[in-house]
Amino acid sequence: MKLILLGAPGAGKGTQAEVICSTLNIPAISTGNILREAVKNGTALGMEAKAYMDGGKLVPDELVIGILKERLAKDDCKAGFILDGFPRTVPQAEALDRMGIVIDKVIDLEVSDEAITKRMSGRRVCESCGASYHLEFKPSKEEGVCDKCGGKTVQRKDDHPDTVKERLEVYHAQTEPLKGYYQKTGKLAIVEGQDEVSETTALVLKALGR
Ligand code: AP5
Repeated sequence: MKLILLGAPGAGKGTQAEVICSTLNIPAISTGNILREAVKNGTALGMEAKAYMDGGKLVPDELVIGILKERLAKDDCKAGFILDGFPRTVPQAEALDRMGIVIDKVIDLEVSDEAITKRMSGRRVCESCGASYHLEFKPSKEEGVCDKCGGKTVQRKDDHPDTVKERLEVYHAQTEPLKGYYQKTGKLAIVEGQDEVSETTALVLKALGR
Protein backbone atom coordinates (compact mmCIF):
# COMPACT_ATOMS: atom_id res chain seq x y z
CA MET A 1 0.00 0.00 0.00
CA LYS A 2 1.42 3.36 -1.05
CA LEU A 3 -0.33 6.26 0.64
CA ILE A 4 -0.16 10.02 0.72
CA LEU A 5 -1.45 12.05 3.66
CA LEU A 6 -2.41 15.55 2.60
CA GLY A 7 -3.53 18.32 4.91
CA ALA A 8 -2.65 21.69 6.35
CA PRO A 9 0.19 22.03 8.84
CA GLY A 10 -1.09 20.65 12.13
CA ALA A 11 -4.04 18.82 10.52
CA GLY A 12 -2.87 15.61 12.18
CA LYS A 13 -0.89 13.95 9.38
CA GLY A 14 1.92 12.81 11.67
CA THR A 15 -0.51 11.63 14.35
CA GLN A 16 -2.52 9.52 11.88
CA ALA A 17 0.61 8.30 10.04
CA GLU A 18 1.81 6.77 13.32
CA VAL A 19 -1.39 4.69 13.65
CA ILE A 20 -1.60 3.63 9.98
CA CYS A 21 2.06 2.72 10.04
CA SER A 22 1.58 0.20 12.86
CA THR A 23 -1.75 -1.07 11.45
CA LEU A 24 -0.38 -1.71 7.94
CA ASN A 25 3.21 -2.37 9.00
CA ILE A 26 4.71 0.07 6.51
CA PRO A 27 7.04 2.99 7.25
CA ALA A 28 5.80 6.55 7.59
CA ILE A 29 8.05 8.98 5.78
CA SER A 30 7.87 12.55 6.99
CA THR A 31 9.97 15.03 5.00
CA GLY A 32 9.50 17.44 7.93
CA ASN A 33 11.09 14.94 10.35
CA ILE A 34 13.96 14.22 7.95
CA LEU A 35 14.62 17.95 7.58
CA ARG A 36 14.40 18.60 11.34
CA GLU A 37 16.91 15.78 11.95
CA ALA A 38 19.26 17.37 9.38
CA VAL A 39 18.92 20.75 11.12
CA LYS A 40 19.61 19.11 14.51
CA ASN A 41 22.73 17.39 13.14
CA GLY A 42 23.96 20.58 11.44
CA THR A 43 24.38 18.90 8.04
CA ALA A 44 24.73 20.95 4.83
CA LEU A 45 21.10 20.08 3.99
CA GLY A 46 19.97 21.15 7.47
CA MET A 47 21.82 24.45 7.22
CA GLU A 48 20.20 25.20 3.89
CA ALA A 49 16.69 24.18 5.03
CA LYS A 50 16.68 25.90 8.45
CA ALA A 51 15.85 29.47 7.39
CA TYR A 52 12.94 28.30 5.23
CA MET A 53 11.53 26.12 8.00
CA ASP A 54 11.90 28.70 10.77
CA GLY A 55 10.13 31.25 8.58
CA GLY A 56 7.25 28.89 7.76
CA LYS A 57 8.23 28.71 4.07
CA LEU A 58 8.59 25.59 1.97
CA VAL A 59 12.07 24.20 1.39
CA PRO A 60 12.89 24.35 -2.38
CA ASP A 61 11.40 21.50 -4.41
CA GLU A 62 14.70 20.16 -5.76
CA LEU A 63 16.10 19.67 -2.23
CA VAL A 64 13.01 17.86 -0.91
CA ILE A 65 12.60 15.73 -4.04
CA GLY A 66 16.23 14.59 -3.65
CA ILE A 67 15.64 13.64 0.01
CA LEU A 68 12.53 11.68 -0.86
CA LYS A 69 14.14 9.76 -3.74
CA GLU A 70 16.96 8.70 -1.43
CA ARG A 71 14.54 7.61 1.32
CA LEU A 72 12.26 5.64 -1.03
CA ALA A 73 15.25 3.69 -2.34
CA LYS A 74 15.68 2.02 1.09
CA ASP A 75 14.63 -1.60 1.55
CA ASP A 76 11.88 -0.92 4.11
CA CYS A 77 9.85 0.93 1.43
CA LYS A 78 9.54 -2.12 -0.83
CA ALA A 79 6.21 -3.26 0.65
CA GLY A 80 4.74 0.25 0.69
CA PHE A 81 4.89 3.48 2.65
CA ILE A 82 2.95 6.48 3.90
CA LEU A 83 4.09 9.90 2.74
CA ASP A 84 3.47 12.53 5.43
CA GLY A 85 4.17 16.06 4.17
CA PHE A 86 5.17 15.12 0.63
CA PRO A 87 4.17 16.16 -1.99
CA ARG A 88 3.49 19.73 -0.97
CA THR A 89 3.54 21.41 -4.38
CA VAL A 90 2.34 20.34 -7.82
CA PRO A 91 5.97 20.04 -9.09
CA GLN A 92 6.67 17.60 -6.19
CA ALA A 93 3.62 15.51 -7.17
CA GLU A 94 4.80 15.49 -10.78
CA ALA A 95 8.27 14.40 -9.66
CA LEU A 96 6.69 11.49 -7.76
CA ASP A 97 4.82 10.47 -10.93
CA ARG A 98 8.06 10.68 -12.93
CA MET A 99 9.70 8.30 -10.42
CA GLY A 100 7.13 5.75 -11.62
CA ILE A 101 5.50 5.46 -8.20
CA VAL A 102 1.85 4.43 -8.35
CA ILE A 103 -0.04 5.74 -5.33
CA ASP A 104 -2.98 3.65 -4.07
CA LYS A 105 -4.76 6.25 -1.98
CA VAL A 106 -4.49 9.92 -1.04
CA ILE A 107 -6.12 10.87 2.26
CA ASP A 108 -6.82 14.55 2.71
CA LEU A 109 -7.34 15.57 6.35
CA GLU A 110 -9.59 18.62 6.47
CA VAL A 111 -9.34 20.87 9.53
CA SER A 112 -10.32 24.55 9.83
CA ASP A 113 -7.58 27.18 10.18
CA GLU A 114 -9.01 28.10 13.59
CA ALA A 115 -8.71 24.53 14.94
CA ILE A 116 -5.22 24.25 13.41
CA THR A 117 -4.06 27.33 15.29
CA LYS A 118 -5.32 25.81 18.57
CA ARG A 119 -3.63 22.49 17.85
CA MET A 120 -0.28 24.06 17.02
CA SER A 121 -0.20 26.20 20.16
CA GLY A 122 -0.61 23.08 22.33
CA ARG A 123 1.68 20.75 20.39
CA ARG A 124 4.81 19.53 22.12
CA VAL A 125 7.43 17.29 20.50
CA CYS A 126 10.18 15.17 21.98
CA GLU A 127 13.54 16.75 21.21
CA SER A 128 15.19 13.30 21.23
CA CYS A 129 12.86 10.99 19.24
CA GLY A 130 10.43 13.48 17.64
CA ALA A 131 7.25 11.90 19.16
CA SER A 132 4.36 14.37 19.08
CA TYR A 133 1.94 15.28 21.90
CA HIS A 134 -0.69 17.89 22.66
CA LEU A 135 -1.12 19.51 26.07
CA GLU A 136 -4.90 19.01 25.91
CA PHE A 137 -5.72 16.44 23.20
CA LYS A 138 -2.82 14.00 23.55
CA PRO A 139 -0.87 14.71 26.72
CA SER A 140 2.21 12.72 27.69
CA LYS A 141 1.81 10.81 30.97
CA GLU A 142 4.18 13.18 32.72
CA GLU A 143 4.16 16.78 31.48
CA GLY A 144 7.36 17.70 29.65
CA VAL A 145 8.58 14.08 29.42
CA CYS A 146 8.26 11.81 26.37
CA ASP A 147 6.33 8.56 27.02
CA LYS A 148 8.43 6.70 24.46
CA CYS A 149 12.02 7.58 25.32
CA GLY A 150 11.93 9.78 28.45
CA GLY A 151 13.30 12.75 26.44
CA LYS A 152 12.28 16.35 27.03
CA THR A 153 9.18 17.60 25.16
CA VAL A 154 9.36 21.13 23.76
CA GLN A 155 7.42 23.48 21.50
CA ARG A 156 8.54 23.44 17.86
CA LYS A 157 10.10 26.72 16.73
CA ASP A 158 7.73 26.94 13.75
CA ASP A 159 4.67 26.58 16.05
CA HIS A 160 5.00 30.24 17.08
CA PRO A 161 1.65 31.96 16.18
CA ASP A 162 3.20 34.29 13.52
CA THR A 163 4.92 31.37 11.81
CA VAL A 164 1.74 29.27 11.96
CA LYS A 165 -0.10 32.08 10.12
CA GLU A 166 2.59 32.10 7.42
CA ARG A 167 2.51 28.27 7.14
CA LEU A 168 -1.26 28.31 6.67
CA GLU A 169 -0.94 30.94 3.92
CA VAL A 170 1.73 28.87 2.19
CA TYR A 171 -0.50 25.78 2.54
CA HIS A 172 -3.51 27.46 0.91
CA ALA A 173 -1.42 28.91 -1.94
CA GLN A 174 0.92 26.01 -2.74
CA THR A 175 -0.33 22.75 -1.24
CA GLU A 176 -4.12 22.94 -1.40
CA PRO A 177 -4.07 22.77 -5.26
CA LEU A 178 -2.90 19.16 -4.83
CA LYS A 179 -6.46 18.21 -3.86
CA GLY A 180 -7.52 18.99 -7.46
CA TYR A 181 -4.45 17.17 -8.80
CA TYR A 182 -5.37 13.94 -6.98
CA GLN A 183 -9.12 14.35 -7.38
CA LYS A 184 -8.56 13.82 -11.10
CA THR A 185 -6.88 10.46 -10.43
CA GLY A 186 -9.95 9.21 -8.51
CA LYS A 187 -7.74 8.27 -5.55
CA LEU A 188 -8.55 11.16 -3.22
CA ALA A 189 -10.52 10.50 -0.03
CA ILE A 190 -11.48 13.49 2.10
CA VAL A 191 -11.60 12.90 5.84
CA GLU A 192 -12.97 15.59 8.12
CA GLY A 193 -10.60 15.82 11.09
CA GLN A 194 -12.48 15.31 14.35
CA ASP A 195 -11.83 16.78 17.78
CA GLU A 196 -10.75 13.39 19.10
CA VAL A 197 -7.66 11.77 17.57
CA SER A 198 -9.27 8.30 17.78
CA GLU A 199 -12.39 9.46 15.91
CA THR A 200 -10.24 10.77 13.05
CA THR A 201 -8.30 7.50 13.04
CA ALA A 202 -11.54 5.51 12.66
CA LEU A 203 -12.51 7.63 9.62
CA VAL A 204 -9.04 7.30 8.08
CA LEU A 205 -9.06 3.51 8.47
CA LYS A 206 -12.57 3.37 6.99
CA ALA A 207 -11.35 5.37 3.97
CA LEU A 208 -8.59 2.77 3.60
CA GLY A 209 -11.15 -0.04 3.73
CA ARG A 210 -9.92 -1.32 7.15
P1 AP5 B 1 6.21 19.22 8.65
O1 AP5 B 1 6.91 18.68 9.79
O2 AP5 B 1 5.73 18.30 7.58
O3 AP5 B 1 5.08 20.14 9.17
P2 AP5 B 1 3.57 20.30 8.72
O4 AP5 B 1 3.01 19.78 7.49
O5 AP5 B 1 3.47 21.76 8.82
O6 AP5 B 1 2.86 19.37 9.60
P3 AP5 B 1 2.95 19.29 11.11
O7 AP5 B 1 4.01 18.34 11.51
O8 AP5 B 1 3.01 20.68 11.68
O9 AP5 B 1 1.51 18.78 11.45
P4 AP5 B 1 0.78 17.39 11.26
O10 AP5 B 1 -0.27 17.53 10.20
O11 AP5 B 1 1.73 16.26 11.14
O12 AP5 B 1 0.02 17.38 12.62
P5 AP5 B 1 0.30 16.56 13.97
O13 AP5 B 1 -0.07 15.14 13.78
O14 AP5 B 1 1.66 16.88 14.50
O15 AP5 B 1 7.11 20.30 7.90
C1 AP5 B 1 7.82 21.31 8.61
C2 AP5 B 1 8.51 22.20 7.62
O16 AP5 B 1 9.45 21.44 6.82
C3 AP5 B 1 7.62 22.90 6.59
O17 AP5 B 1 7.06 24.09 7.07
C4 AP5 B 1 8.62 23.12 5.45
O18 AP5 B 1 9.45 24.22 5.70
C5 AP5 B 1 9.47 21.87 5.48
N1 AP5 B 1 8.95 20.78 4.61
C6 AP5 B 1 8.52 19.54 5.00
N2 AP5 B 1 8.13 18.82 3.95
C7 AP5 B 1 8.31 19.62 2.86
C8 AP5 B 1 8.06 19.46 1.48
N3 AP5 B 1 7.55 18.32 0.98
N4 AP5 B 1 8.35 20.49 0.65
C9 AP5 B 1 8.88 21.64 1.10
N5 AP5 B 1 9.14 21.88 2.40
C10 AP5 B 1 8.85 20.88 3.27
O19 AP5 B 1 -0.81 17.23 14.89
C11 AP5 B 1 -0.70 18.59 15.33
C12 AP5 B 1 -1.11 18.68 16.81
O20 AP5 B 1 -2.52 18.43 16.92
C13 AP5 B 1 -0.44 17.64 17.71
O21 AP5 B 1 -0.15 18.24 18.93
C14 AP5 B 1 -1.48 16.52 17.85
O22 AP5 B 1 -1.37 15.84 19.09
C15 AP5 B 1 -2.79 17.30 17.76
N6 AP5 B 1 -3.83 16.53 17.08
C16 AP5 B 1 -3.69 15.72 16.02
N7 AP5 B 1 -4.89 15.19 15.65
C17 AP5 B 1 -5.81 15.74 16.50
C18 AP5 B 1 -7.22 15.63 16.63
N8 AP5 B 1 -7.95 14.85 15.83
N9 AP5 B 1 -7.80 16.33 17.59
C19 AP5 B 1 -7.09 17.12 18.40
N10 AP5 B 1 -5.75 17.27 18.34
C20 AP5 B 1 -5.12 16.59 17.40
